[in-house]
Amino acid sequence: MKFVERAFGSPKRELPKEETEKRKNPLSSAEEEILEMREKASSKDIIGGCSSRPVFVEFKDDGAGIFKLSSREEKLEHVGNYKKERAAYLADRFLGFGLVPPTVIREIDGEIGSVQEFVPDAKTAAEAYLTPAEGKEPTLTKEQKQSLKLELFKLWFFDYLLYNRDRHGGNLLVKENKIYAIDNGWTFRKNDFYWPFCRFFDTPIPQEVKDAFERFYSWKEGKEILRDLLSELLDKDEVDCFFKRVEVVERFVRQGTIPENAQSALKFDPGIIEK
Ligand SMILES: Nc1ncnc2c1ncn2[C@@H]1O[C@H](COP(=O)(O)OP(=O)(O)OP(=O)(O)O)[C@@H](O)[C@H]1O
Ligand SMILES: [Mg+2]
Repeated sequence: MKFVERAFGSPKRELPKEETEKRKNPLSSAEEEILEMREKASSKDIIGGCSSRPVFVEFKDDGAGIFKLSSREEKLEHVGNYKKERAAYLADRFLGFGLVPPTVIREIDGEIGSVQEFVPDAKTAAEAYLTPAEGKEPTLTKEQKQSLKLELFKLWFFDYLLYNRDRHGGNLLVKENKIYAIDNGWTFRKNDFYWPFCRFFDTPIPQEVKDAFERFYSWKEGKEILRDLLSELLDKDEVDCFFKRVEVVERFVRQGTIPENAQSALKFDPGIIEK
């Protein structure tokens, strides 16, 4: 060993750029940063039969969030669902649908979990009487129903792509003609069932949904970055299957509809998904 190396250590190997620098998420938002940093002012458990036993957290200065603790999952055999809350948010960001409120992973009082921005003054679809199973008529105007149709289509398309098994009427919020997809812990499923809130099989895919999907699909670097981000949160096969679904759905988008008989075309099993 040369004297210089003995004294100062051997010169560092020049690593290729991709090894030294992780590609940054170009879509990371100010809202996410605020959610990650803001200090807790107070917190309380949400009362009711909620299976993940989320906590409502108020932040100092402004805003609130829904905190889902990883420690509560272990007892409920929902391990990893809090990560899927974040994964679903990321997928939504990259698709550009704007359905999922900003969601991050962070620590509060020494506990790790997901924190989703609280949407004030919103009603769940069940509360807004949008759930047909309840046998109640929506209390919405014709115009509201019309504008919600596009939002509901986006939600259905999103849940199809993410293979969500839990979009019941309590897991979406409605506010001023906008839909918020909350409670996304049962997405990216494996060999499971798919449970949407509504169905638009064989219905022409609206142009806005097509455009958003095609923008995402043709953004090669974006898909690679999303794959990296999802890989930090999900199993490898969950990520692989998501991207295989993207390929299947792309064919449907080109055709203009998702056929009714494609309901089980996206089972979360690499062996089942057609190549
Ligand atoms: N981002 C949000 N903004 C406003 N309210 C929210 C938000 N997230 C959750 N809520 C409210 O808290 C309730 C429980 O949250 P969530 O559905 O995520 O919990 P859960 O334990 O997974 O529920 P489930 O009973 O479906 O298993 C929701 O039905 C909704 O009323
Ligand atoms: Mg719920």
